[in-house]
Amino acid sequence: MGYNIAIDGPAGAGKSTIAKQVAQKKGYIYVDTGAMYRGLAVHFLKNHIRPEDTEGIIRACEDASVSIGYENGLQQIYLNGENITGMLREEAVGDMASKSSPVPEVREKLLMLQRTLAREKDVVMDGRDIGTNILPEADVKVYLTASVETRAKRRYDELTAKGTDCDMEQITADIEERDHRDMTRETAPLRQAEDAVFIDSSNMTIEEVTEAILKLCR
Ligand code: DC
Repeated sequence: MGYNIAIDGPAGAGKSTIAKQVAQKKGYIYVDTGAMYRGLAVHFLKNHIRPEDTEGIIRACEDASVSIGYENGLQQIYLNGENITGMLREEAVGDMASKSSPVPEVREKLLMLQRTLAREKDVVMDGRDIGTNILPEADVKVYLTASVETRAKRRYDELTAKGTDCDMEQITADIEERDHRDMTRETAPLRQAEDAVFIDSSNMTIEEVTEAILKLCR
C-alpha cells in the first residue's frame, strides 16, 4: 500500500495547485481525478451526447478507456490511447464532467483506476470523494475550501491572464451552480470526511496551505 494523501473540496479551492506542491515536496505522484472525469467528458462530447442523455452516457462508457501517464512529472490523460490532456481545461469539458460525473456507471469506470494507483504508489490524490469514498483509509485527509468570492476572483484572474474575456457575475453563478451539483448528487457527493482536516484557503497563501498539509504527513 502506498502512502496516501487525499484532498477534496469544491471547484477553485486551489486543490490542484496545492496537491502538486505537496506531491513535489514529498516526491509522491500527483493524481488529478477531476482530469479523469474530464477525459470521459471529452469522449461524450466527441460522440455528440447531451449531458442530460444518461442512457447515452452509460452506453458510451462501454467503449471509453481512460488511462493516465506522466511526462516530465506532469499528469497526462489518454482516451482510448490518444493523449487528450490539452483539451481538458475547456469550459465545455468542465461542464460536461460536472454533469456526467453523478452517473454511477461513470464513477464506477474510474474507481479501480484511482484505487490501483493509490495501492501501488505514494500519491497525493485530489477530487470530490477521495477521502469519503475512493480512499477511506487514506493516511491524511484534507477538505480544502475557500469562499465563493475568493474562488470566483481566482478563476477571473486565471482567465484574464490567459486573455479570455470573462464576467465576474457569470463566473460566480457558474461556481455556485457547480457546487450545488457536486454537493447534492446522490452518488458520492462532495462532503467533508469525518476524519478530514478542514482548511479554508481564502486568506492563506499557497505556501501556507502547503505547509499546513505537510505538517499532517509522516
Ligand atoms: O476538479 P475538476 O473541476 O477538474 O472536476 C471536474 C468535475 O468532475 C467536477 O465538476 C466534479 C467531477 N469530479 C468528481 O465528481 N469526482 C472527483 N473525484 C473529481 C471530479
